[in-house]
This record gives sequence, C-alpha cells and structure tokens, in this order.
Amino acid sequence: MSAIELSKPQWSSQKVFILAAVGSAVGLGNIWKFPYIAGENGGGAFVLVYLLCVALIGLPVLMAEIGLGRMGKANSPQAMANLAAEFRASPLWSLVGLSGVLAGVLILSFYTVIAGWAIDYFVESAVGHFRGIQADAIGKHFSDLLANPWALLFWHTVIVLMTVGIVAKGVKGGLEKAVNFMMPLLFFILLVLLGWSASQQSFGESLRFLFAPDFSKLTWEAVLIAMGHAFFTLSIGMGAMMVYGSYLPERHSIPKAAVWIVFADTAVALLAGIIIFTVVFGNGLEPGAGPGLLFQTLPVAFGQMSGGWFWGTLFFFLVVLAALSSAISLIEPAVSWVEQNWRMKRSTATWLLGFLVWLLGIGTVLSFNAWKHVHFLPGKTFFDSLDFITANIMLPLGGMLMAIFMAWVVSDKARQAEFRLPPALDGAFRFDLRAIAPVGVLIVFASNLVSDPY
Ligand code: PFF
Ligand code: NA
Repeated sequence: MSAIELSKPQWSSQKVFILAAVGSAVGLGNIWKFPYIAGENGGGAFVLVYLLCVALIGLPVLMAEIGLGRMGKANSPQAMANLAAEFRASPLWSLVGLSGVLAGVLILSFYTVIAGWAIDYFVESAVGHFRGIQADAIGKHFSDLLANPWALLFWHTVIVLMTVGIVAKGVKGGLEKAVNFMMPLLFFILLVLLGWSASQQSFGESLRFLFAPDFSKLTWEAVLIAMGHAFFTLSIGMGAMMVYGSYLPERHSIPKAAVWIVFADTAVALLAGIIIFTVVFGNGLEPGAGPGLLFQTLPVAFGQMSGGWFWGTLFFFLVVLAALSSAISLIEPAVSWVEQNWRMKRSTATWLLGFLVWLLGIGTVLSFNAWKHVHFLPGKTFFDSLDFITANIMLPLGGMLMAIFMAWVVSDKARQAEFRLPPALDGAFRFDLRAIAPVGVLIVFASNLVSDPY
C-alpha cells in the first residue's frame, strides 16, 4: 500500500477523533451544570478548586484514558482486559470498563431529561413566547414545565429517540460534521452574550462571584462536587474517551488533542457562568437556584438584547445539539460492549439500552414533581442521587483507576511510546498519574466520609 493510501483514512480519523471528543466534552455539563453547582457552592473558591482539579487531575487522566483506548483497541471492558493481559495484571481490571458502561447508562438517563428542557425552550423561543420576557415570567414558565411530568416525559422520549436513532443507524459522521460547524457557532453566541453582559451593571458582581474566592464558604462536600465535575465535564472516568481514543492514529499527539479538549471545554463553562451570573445579579435572582438556573436566566438576557429572538432560538438549538453529541458518547461504551460481548446486532443493542435509559429517566422526570420530596440517598431526590453516585463517585473512582493502571501497570517504554513527551514532561505526567491524581481523589473521598458521614 502506498503512503498516500495509508495516510488518507488516518487523516480523516484524526478529524473524527477531535470532533467526537470535543462534541462529547462540551455539553450540558458546561452550560447547565457548571453554573448551577458553582452558584450552589458559593462561587469563587469552588471555581478555583474546579480549575485546579481540571488541570492537575482532569488533563492527565484524559490523556491516560485516550491512551488506554488507543493501546487497548476494543470496547472499554475488553480494552482493559487486553491491556491487563499484555502487562500481566489481574483480569479484574476489566471491571473499570464495566463500571463505566453502567455509569454511562445512569448519566444518560438524566442527561436526556435535562436536554428535554432545552428542546422545550428551543420551541418556546422559536414561536416567540420568550420575546422581551422578564425574570418572573420565565421563572413561572420553568416551574410550570417541571410541574408537568407528561411534558417532561414527552421531551425525554424525544431526546432518547434522537440519541438511539443516531447511534443505531451509525450516522454519527453526520452529527460530527454538524458539530464541527455548530460548536464554533455556539462559542460565537456565547461571545455575543458576553458582550451584552459586559454592558450590564451586574457584570462586575458576576466576575467577583465567580473569580474572587471566599474560602470560608468551601466545604469538603463542595470540593467533592468540584472534583466530580472535572471528570463529568471532560467525559472521563467511564470509557467514553477510551472508545474515542481507539480512533486516534498512532502518529497523532494525544497530549496536544487533550490540551485542546480541556481548553475548549473550560472556556465554554466559564463563559456560560459569567453570562448567567450577570443575569442573576442584575435581576435579584438566587445564585443557588439549583438545576433551573440556566433556564431561569438566559431567556431574560435574550429578552433584552436586540435580535434576542433569533439568538435565543439558535442558542437553545445549539444546546440541544451539544447535548446530543455528548449523549451518543454516554451510550457508546454500553452499546459497543453489549454488541461485541453478547453478539448482538448494533441496532438491537442500541434500542435495548435506549429503552433502559428511557425507563430509568422516568425517575428523574418524577424527581421534579411527584417525587420531589422522596429521598433515595439522604436528602437527595432520585435525580440528585443518580447525579451524586455517577459524577461524584463512579467517575472519579474510574478515572483514578485508569491513572493507576497507566502509571503503575503499563510499562515505561509503552507509555513513552504512546505519549512521546519530552523526558521532563513524561516524568511529571507519570508522577501526576502515580501520586497526585489518585491521592487527590482519595483525600477528597476520605474527607467527605469523615466530615459528612451517612
Ligand atoms: N462531558 C459532558 C458534559 O459536560 O455535558 C457529559 C458527559 C459526556 C459525561 C460523556 C461523561 C461522558 F462519558
Ligand atoms: Na463538558
């Protein structure tokens, strides 16, 4: 085979990888979750801990996970099993992959419900219901939506069907191309909104809230939530990046791709936060309003901007798209595992898992109305419990084990060949994976058990 024939498919795989990975990372975690958990946990100090976790744990674990995918070349439990065999470690390492498969299904079951809110907002905005809307009116629209389980179930069903349709038919290439074009557009709208925010009086207060740390407000639980969110937002610790990593040709640099993913993801989150808190402080709203924060604030900004109908409608459309490109990566580890392990057709596996996700999602739908006061974990609704178990426990645990595997089980030679870092950086990378990331996760886990025992 000639060099040209070889390089062509590889180049397109590299593109597919970056598109898929950024599409997976940038999603509801950035635009919906980051602002509301930052608001609930007092702002600045929480944001600083989150940024430290992204830099010190998120980036190296993201690199390790992509590397494991490229080396293991299979669905995530099988990739871990292959590597464990290659490096003479216990076959139990495949459990890391399995727990990730489960985490993906659990996360997707609430992710689709929230994406359903965004699609409702897209429709409401498109038909003009949000023109010039004020904070109290949008607040009422949102609480009416949440109080109506049938509306939530309807949109949840729509999003699950869209996700399953895309994954079952394998038309992901089309979605990735759309994401390639739409994500820069989303970024552009955020910049437009940033310009609007900067012209508001409450802009300074928003910046102070997010970036002036007040450590007296920081609890160990807040640190756990910040750390968990670093995993959630980068899509790491559950095998999604492992699956995507297997697309990445050997000659492309994992560190470069990872830095780009982290940069894009962090920028979107911070922009969303700055804009949302400008609206919060400009309208006397509550920073700790919870999961509704995005939905109770941004329509007010669009309502006041010129061309707000257009920008608002486009914005919620792009949020739905960003959510879909994350949703397909949440179900992919489960689909490829079921497909290969149970010898099932890809489409059958996808529909089966989609049904499971849909069923579980009903619990989240009810968390905002009929089961509002029903607690599964202490003080936590069904939705809060799922979110807590996945983002704050399963992902950090999975990511920690991937770090340990890459740094202690994979040989130095194999790691160096995989990442091709200059010696000093390779040493820092190994030290981070061996010590900083796992010890960091353990300290945060242990402190929560001690300070807040169930
Ligand atoms: N990173 C996505 C977000 O920030 O919205 C959520 C996510 C996708 C988490 C895929 C985990 C994952 F595997
Ligand atoms: Na994200």
